[in-house]
Amino acid sequence: LKIYLKMINTSTSDSKTSLNRKTPPTIIIIFGASGDLTARKLAPAIFNLSKDNLLPKKCFLIGYGRSAMSDDSFKNEIKEALKAHSRRKIEASTWNNLEKNLIFHAGAYDDLNSFVTLENKITKIEKQIDCKVQCLFYVSTPPGVFMPILENLGESGLAKRHRGTETASKVIIEKPFGRDLQSAHELNQVINRRFDESQVFRIDHYLGKETVQSLLVQRFANSIFEPVWNRNYVSSVQITVSEDIGVGNRGGYYDKSGALRDMIQNHVMQLLALTAMEPPSSLDPESIRDEKVKALKALKPLALEGESPEVVRASYAAGLVGGSPTKAYIDEEGIPQDSSTETYAAMRLYLDNWRWKGVPFYLRSGKRLAMKASEIVVQFTRPPAILFGQDSRLKVSPNLLVIRIQPNEGVTLYLNSKTPGLETKLQPIKLAFGYETTFGSDTPEAYERLILDALNGDGTLFIRGDEAEMSWGLLSPVLDYWSSQGRQGLESYASGTWGPLAADKLLLGSGHEWITGRNYD
Ligand code: BG6
Repeated sequence: LKIYLKMINTSTSDSKTSLNRKTPPTIIIIFGASGDLTARKLAPAIFNLSKDNLLPKKCFLIGYGRSAMSDDSFKNEIKEALKAHSRRKIEASTWNNLEKNLIFHAGAYDDLNSFVTLENKITKIEKQIDCKVQCLFYVSTPPGVFMPILENLGESGLAKRHRGTETASKVIIEKPFGRDLQSAHELNQVINRRFDESQVFRIDHYLGKETVQSLLVQRFANSIFEPVWNRNYVSSVQITVSEDIGVGNRGGYYDKSGALRDMIQNHVMQLLALTAMEPPSSLDPESIRDEKVKALKALKPLALEGESPEVVRASYAAGLVGGSPTKAYIDEEGIPQDSSTETYAAMRLYLDNWRWKGVPFYLRSGKRLAMKASEIVVQFTRPPAILFGQDSRLKVSPNLLVIRIQPNEGVTLYLNSKTPGLETKLQPIKLAFGYETTFGSDTPEAYERLILDALNGDGTLFIRGDEAEMSWGLLSPVLDYWSSQGRQGLESYASGTWGPLAADKLLLGSGHEWITGRNYD
């Protein structure tokens, strides 16, 4: 498996990626430049792209924020952020290159005039360097101001700059993309009025993670998986995205969001779509996104009440994480004592299509769980119990394909093997491939890949408007139901565990159990 995946990696060189395209001169404009995401992810990603010479020679960064700041203070902020968060050390030559083109622009998000003065700055830079530039607007503010920003980009003419040419403006929109179907739809309407879809990049940083990208390669560049990737051979699929951290100082945002909006609607549903989709007819962005939409469209509405509800929500109680005591969610900073926000959500889903009819997809995500782990587990059907199976020594375990997105990115296939010795005894063994052991640890961060793709107009790893709405279409009724129930039905789990017992019931009687976190070695 190790050699095989290595071969694939070599053969999928970058023929279809942004690496071999020539990016035109660019100005990246970040709305929310003083925010946490800029410091932790965006500035380091831009720095590392620059270090790898992947940015155009003429590249500027304008930080747009509400409080006035001098260019020098902005440069300082960025430098500090890089020191704290860049995956590679900052050295003089890259920093000097970047620093001279860092500019700060103070303005309100709902003030058209601030966008007009921004446009003046952009035109001035164009005159200075004597060529047309493309603008990449990165909307990284709290979601409440997405709309005014997008409207003002339209109203000021910034959205239309050089449209139809290679220097057309582009816009990256951070998550959360709406808070339900209705608001996502309204956001899409504004976007459609102001931009062409080809200019729009709705980001989900999970799509930029190495293992997520390689999922497509694994599925469609290997002939051994495709024939068994269906209801005849797969008995269940599980997707776990667990975190050991709590809400930290993000209580204000999180309490209005919760696990379903924060993680499931975007990251987890994207993993599901990539796992379940049909082979696209080509690698172009629209073919891939068409297939993802079809998979999401096939999802059956969830049963919320009755004998066997298909969704569980819970909130963390106090507990022990990594040996240290931790607070309950409702005792965290900024969280009301009567909060009904879920910090954990799990569900059992079915796709009503030819490939997956009857195969449960179990999804779960939560904070303050036993460990940070993102995994897709494909569990295969057991072989007929004719030769092995009756005798407990000959216990046949199901074959599992575990795709580990983080940490310790890799792929493990569990097979049954005979243990050495005169007796016939079976034991699951694993064929394991680890990214780090095979390729070394210096892989780019998700945001590097995604920003580079957006600069080059490649939307493959971004969410299309209809995809976002399809995912909300499934989950909005769940949110409405929960909000009608208040705290009723909100389960609890001790921090540092794998979540509430009620989540195990989702699997009850199916012969399945949650796999991530179990020791299968
Ligand atoms: C973000 C969520 O989208 O993803 C956070 O808002 C979460 O709550 C984070 O912690 C997890 O991302 P990663 O890359 O650390 O798995």
